[in-house]
This record gives sequence, C-alpha cells and structure tokens, in this order.
Amino acid sequence: MTSFIICGERKLSGRLWIHGAKNAALPILAAAILHPGTTVLHQCPDILDVRSTLKMLEFAGCVIHKEADTVIIDAADIHPCGFPTDWVSGMRSSILFLGAMLGRCGEICLDYPGGCSIGSRPVDIHLKALEKMGVTVVESDGKIHCCSSRLKGCRIRLPYPSVGATENILMAAARAEGVTVLENAAREPEIDDLCGFLCAIGVPVCSDGRGRIWIDGNSRTKDAVYTIMPDRIVSGTYLCAAAATGGSLELPNGIPAHLEAVLEIFERMGCSVERGRRQGIYMKAPARLKAAGHIHTAPFPGFPTDMQSQIMAVLAKAGDVSRIYEHIFEDRFKTVYELRKMGADIWTDSSMAVVRGKEKLYGARVRASDLRGGAALIIAGLAAEGETVVENGLFVERGYQNICGDLKKIGACICHTEN
Ligand code: EPZ
Repeated sequence: MTSFIICGERKLSGRLWIHGAKNAALPILAAAILHPGTTVLHQCPDILDVRSTLKMLEFAGCVIHKEADTVIIDAADIHPCGFPTDWVSGMRSSILFLGAMLGRCGEICLDYPGGCSIGSRPVDIHLKALEKMGVTVVESDGKIHCCSSRLKGCRIRLPYPSVGATENILMAAARAEGVTVLENAAREPEIDDLCGFLCAIGVPVCSDGRGRIWIDGNSRTKDAVYTIMPDRIVSGTYLCAAAATGGSLELPNGIPAHLEAVLEIFERMGCSVERGRRQGIYMKAPARLKAAGHIHTAPFPGFPTDMQSQIMAVLAKAGDVSRIYEHIFEDRFKTVYELRKMGADIWTDSSMAVVRGKEKLYGARVRASDLRGGAALIIAGLAAEGETVVENGLFVERGYQNICGDLKKIGACICHTEN
C-alpha cells in the first residue's frame, strides 16, 4: 500500500510547471480511436488512469509509443472487444469508450464504470443520448451492450450538463451521419480541449461557449498532433498547499480562466493573486487566512467540485467559520472524518460542511478514500504540526503525476512509501 509521510508547518514557496490535465487526457485518448491513423499527444500526464487507458487502447488494437510526456497512437486496426471487467470497474472514464468505439466500430460491450466513491454516478444521461443517435442499448448482467448500424446526427438537449455524457456524445457525433446539435452541454475547459482535439483530427466542431455545440460527422479524419491543456485541478491543489502554509506559488503555465472561481476564493481568504493575460498565476498567502464565507460547488464556470476537499483542508486552519455546499456529488465529504483526526472542527450532513477554522492542526495517521480527498489530506498534513501519514496513497497517484517531487520543489518535507 502506498502512503505519503509529511512533516508539516513548513512554508511552501516557489514555482511549479503543471502537467497535462487528467480529465482532458482521458477523453482525448479515447477519442484517438475515432481516427484510423496516427495521433501524437504532447503533455500527456503519466498517471495511473492514463496508464490504464493506454492499456485499454492497446487491447482494442492500437499501437502505442511513449516518449517522455508524448504519446503516439496508431489506431489503424481497431476491433470490437469486451474489455476485462477489472479494468473498467476501476475507472470512471472507461465509460468514454462507449462513444469512441461506437463511433469507430458501431458496437461495444462494457461493464459499468467504477472510479472514486463520491456518489452513485449513474450513466443514464449517456445512454439516453446515445439511443437518440440510433444506438441500441441493452443493460444486462452488469454490462452495457451497445450497437448501431449507423449513428445519426440529431438535436440533443442534456437534462444536466454532465461532463462524461457530453464527451461520449461528442465522440459518437464525430462519426455520425449529419450534424449533431448538443444543448445544455458541459462547459468545463476539458470539454473545450476535447473539441480542440476533434477539430485537429478533421471533425468540424463549433461551440458557442454557453453550452451549445455543433458537430458535423461527415468529414474524413486525418493524422494530428495535439497538446493537452495543463491540469487546472492540480494547479488549484498546489495553490491550496501554498495557501495552507502561508506561502506563495507561481504557476507559469497555469491558466487563470480555468480556475477563476477558485482564485476568487483565495482572494476572499486574504491571498493576493496575480493573473497572466492567458497563462500564469501567482498567489501569495497571508500568515493567517480569513474564512471564505459560503462556497457552492457547481458546473463550470462555478466552483469545481474537484476542488471541494482541498479548499476544505485549507479552511480547517483559516479564521472563523466557512460553509461548503456540495451540489454535484451526494457523497463527497468523507474526508471530513479524517480531517477531524487532525484536530479539524468540521460538521457535515453530507450535503454541506461547516468548517470552524482552528489555530492548529496536528499530524495523524489518516486514510484517503478518493483521489481529491487524498490530496486534501496531504494539504492538511503540510499545514499540521508534526508528522502525518496518508494511507491509500494510490488514490492520489491516479491524478497527480509526481505530487511528492512537486511539493518538495517548493519546500515540503514529504515522501512516499510502498508497503
Ligand atoms: C467528471 O466526472 C470528472 N471525471 C470528475 O472528476 C468531475 O468531478 C466531474 O466530471 C464533474 O466535474 C473525469 O472527467 C474522468 P458528471 P463525470 O457526468 O463525467 C450525475 C476527479 O476527481 N450524472 O458531470 O462522471 C452524476 O451522478 C473526478 O478528477 C447522472 O445522474 O461527472 C453526478 O452527480 C471525480 N447521470 C453529476 O451528474 C449521468 O448519466 C455530475 O456527473 C451522468 C452523470
């Protein structure tokens, strides 16, 4: 089992380069299946979920070459296949192979996806939209069987701006007959990155930036080279680490527009934030942070649910009382019970948390139960007196390429052990 060991109460300051975004890389890797040729992806993060996805691509017939953070995918020979259950049930983003394989082969059989236990995470929105595009969907024996002789472009209005459903529809629509108009689509920057990739391989995609996307499936695809966006949640996580320790951090390739809702909370807590015109974030924290008032998670451009646990860890040592309302997932406050072991004063009813900031947190042995909760416990350990051991560190390695190395670069005393 992987654990992170942290000696806290060291001010973190410095400069970090942010690796490619997990939640952009995963749909883009799946979308590479759509083109029967070669795709070159730069700034592809070397994280567990990407390694699992590359394994699935090879299983489907892709030939993969990796050179540092560049991945070269030859998808000339793709065949319909049933992916091993344990591969699919371990990762939410495996659901994205529905749209990609339907777009390329017209059929796929997939187990229900797994991923972080932060809620029930159904896939009904994905399946209803695919059925509207002419896909026959049969759910039986814990598997989703999909087939379609010919995907047809149509108008689809999502009942909720689901990120994954938007991505699946974009991929199926990329190879459908005619134009698909998607309304109430997710607006996360990772969606824009997937649209950028589809354009790069020759699929005409146009977005109005307010949740309406047009995709024309009639074009031939072509070889492409594409660079994945920097990870905005990793950026936000490292800014939290600097803020929680009264430090400062420069992110030269951080994109302010991707994190504006989070940067505003840092300013509410008393941090000074400088934004580059397109890229570059510099944040400096005061010795003691102020409370943040009320924070509501919401689809982009609202406060991202993937930053909820991390900001809670920061507020655990800020002054006065803050309230965090979780509107996206129904079970994303598990980390509260671990933070309490470190002296945090947090009350939760699983839909919201009341955080009473303390002068001190104390190192303890704690356990991660999901990716962002694990990152939050590392942040709390960095701000706490004494030593903290974060168990189940493998969760963190699913989304952070080298969190130990990065945090050490800015002054943290952290290491990780395998045992
Ligand atoms: C993506 O998950 C991200 N994962 C999540 O990041 C992120 O928290 C989430 O979007 C929201 O931004 C990846 O991109 C791999 P949703 P996804 O479909 O696509 C409900 C991380 O830490 N819903 O937007 O699963 C669902 O239950 C991970 O990097 C349905 O009801 O998110 C949830 O309550 C965690 N039916 C809400 O919508 C559906 O068919 C948001 O889900 C689909 C979703």
